[in-house]
Amino acid sequence: MNTAPVRSIRAEGDVVITLDQTRLPFEEHWLTLAGEADCDRAIRTMQVRGAPLIGAVGAYGLAFALRQDASDTGLVAACARLELARPTAVNLHWALERVRSHVAPLPTGNRAQAAWAEAQRLCDDDVACNRAIGEHLLSVLPRASVAGRPLQILTHCNAGRLATVAYGTALAPIYLLHERGIAVHVWVDETRPRNQGASLTAWELAERGIAHTVIADNAGGLLMMRGDVDAVIVGCDRVTRNGDVVNKVGTYLKALAAHAHGVPFFVACPISTIDMRLADGLQVPIEDRDGRELSHVTGIDAQGRQHTVDIMPGAQRVANPAFDITPAALVTALVTERGACRASAGSLANLAAA
Ligand code: MRU
Repeated sequence: MNTAPVRSIRAEGDVVITLDQTRLPFEEHWLTLAGEADCDRAIRTMQVRGAPLIGAVGAYGLAFALRQDASDTGLVAACARLELARPTAVNLHWALERVRSHVAPLPTGNRAQAAWAEAQRLCDDDVACNRAIGEHLLSVLPRASVAGRPLQILTHCNAGRLATVAYGTALAPIYLLHERGIAVHVWVDETRPRNQGASLTAWELAERGIAHTVIADNAGGLLMMRGDVDAVIVGCDRVTRNGDVVNKVGTYLKALAAHAHGVPFFVACPISTIDMRLADGLQVPIEDRDGRELSHVTGIDAQGRQHTVDIMPGAQRVANPAFDITPAALVTALVTERGACRASAGSLANLAAA
């Protein structure tokens, strides 16, 4: 079994190649992004998703935009346009700001090329960041499991290699354990409504031959009560300065269950996901998505043909908030590329000052 990290995005010549995640797990289709509009569309339609990957595609989107207009006004306008593509994950803002501040002092004629190089560096940095998060998570995870069984990790949504350039954040320690031949088993929350767990996390764990079991979102509480979960690890889309964690809807309920049953609840948190501008989770814009994500499901029939069907014909109203807020008090530790820390205003202020 090949254990080299698989990259979810790469630059080839003057275009960007990335997996279309809306077509997984049914087909592996690689998209070519050749301009700002392609990057913007890919983020909006969730062909690419996951906070760090959104940031990476946004960075390339800005580099493309500067090929058309590298003036000061062009630079500011492109950042403003791209930032609207998805509001909750702060990594998009962070990545655009990283590229913007890198190129702003340069002559306009050099900006597009410098932005492209910075987007590539941002991608390389993401891989190193995720590996470091994985190593730090390994140092806080429970060591041995009951009676020699594999370590049992529960995760929500997809914070794996598909959501990042490689390794993932929450799944990084799983890949590292697997690389080292240490047995691990992952409980994969289905993650309604878009099923990122069932469609993406299960797909990428299967790709690497890592033991996993998909469960309905509501099953985690029972598993924790029975002692079948050693730790919960999730990713995040934004962490505010008091340590509140905004992540895929359903994360909060997992944190409550973990708290009730004494199961450690870890948040894999790149420093780029911390937003010191916002005091608490209630200030984060929560994306309200199309109700069709809830009312319609896509699958394949016995002949491998794909169908999308309405599973609640006649439903009058459907609400679809895409993220929720896990209060800081429910988080055992935030694990960043610099190490683990408490989800508290003091720890985050120290991190920001370092
Ligand atoms: O709506 P999505 O699929 O982009 O939501 C993704 C998540 O909530 C992830 O957990 C988060 O972005 C962290 S990805 C390392």
